[in-house]
Amino acid sequence: MTNPTIQWRDDGTPFSPRFGDIYRNTGSDGRGGLAQARQVFLQGCGLLSTAEEATAWAGAPCWAVLETGFGLGLNFLATWHTWRQDPRRPARLFYSAVEAFPPEPADLIRSVAAFPELAPLAAELAARWHGLLPGVHRLRLDDERVQLTLSIGDVQPALAELTGEHDTIYLDGFDPVRNPAMWSLHTLKAVARLARRGARAATWCVAREVREAMTAAGFDVERVPGLPPSGTHCRPAMRRAGRHAVAPSPMSQRVWRGRGAAWSSAPVWQAPRWRTAWRSAAGR
Ligand SMILES: C[S@@+](CC[C@H](N)C(=O)[O-])C[C@H]1O[C@@H](n2cnc3c(N)ncnc32)[C@H](O)[C@@H]1O
Repeated sequence: MTNPTIQWRDDGTPFSPRFGDIYRNTGSDGRGGLAQARQVFLQGCGLLSTAEEATAWAGAPCWAVLETGFGLGLNFLATWHTWRQDPRRPARLFYSAVEAFPPEPADLIRSVAAFPELAPLAAELAARWHGLLPGVHRLRLDDERVQLTLSIGDVQPALAELTGEHDTIYLDGFDPVRNPAMWSLHTLKAVARLARRGARAATWCVAREVREAMTAAGFDVERVPGLPPSGTHCRPAMRRAGRHAVAPSPMSQRVWRGRGAAWSSAPVWQAPRWRTAWRSAAGR
């Protein structure tokens, strides 16, 4: 049974009746959602290696990603998949996300129907996807090398449940006109608190009000050419340390998306609280 809060269109596009918006663009070949995840978010945050540049996480012992709007987990699965493929990946990947309306496990599986390379990862995620009542949940995946921390609830209190400084930020709410809470100044300040200095961020959203709110929250925002249909995206970078900054790290910026706008931020360096707990549990 699928979550009634998600409607699946004939072309495979997931749609939210609650917000009147799509989760992602499917594209003419059905693979647009994954292309967008890779280009807007992963490439935008420097997590795809290029001939000119190593990935941002190359050589790091661990890496922490923060996402607003976990949704169907496509960005997470794309990040996990890319991490697995990268010979210079950090030993551990920590991924924190907030989500008010978690989908059903069947939706996670259906979401990757056009992306067979993600199917095994989606199956592993779906197998652990239960009991997601409001609050913080930690899902250990990939022989505990990947830890997903889900803060279930409305975005601002859900962000308040998270601590630490993240290296990469994905901002992925619905259209800000339909979903203003995900893009408000208070939300962006809460995100900034969780970003380490120099962290790269990414979003598809280029709305002027959002860019202004991002700037006020402490991000340097640059517009760059992007994927259709918007054609432009933002490349934000955190210009100051978050509240819990310990030491700067050599990160930088970038980001974007495909429905209409994008951005990114810069992080700070302090292991999230759960990172210490994870290490302890792992006997390290
Ligand atoms: C565009 S979708 C995210 C897609 C997702 N990143 C993916 O890769 O599949 C936006 C998400 O934000 C969530 N959302 C919207 N408003 C929210 C709020 N106030 N608090 C928490 N989550 C919210 C929606 O439920 C939806 O899952």
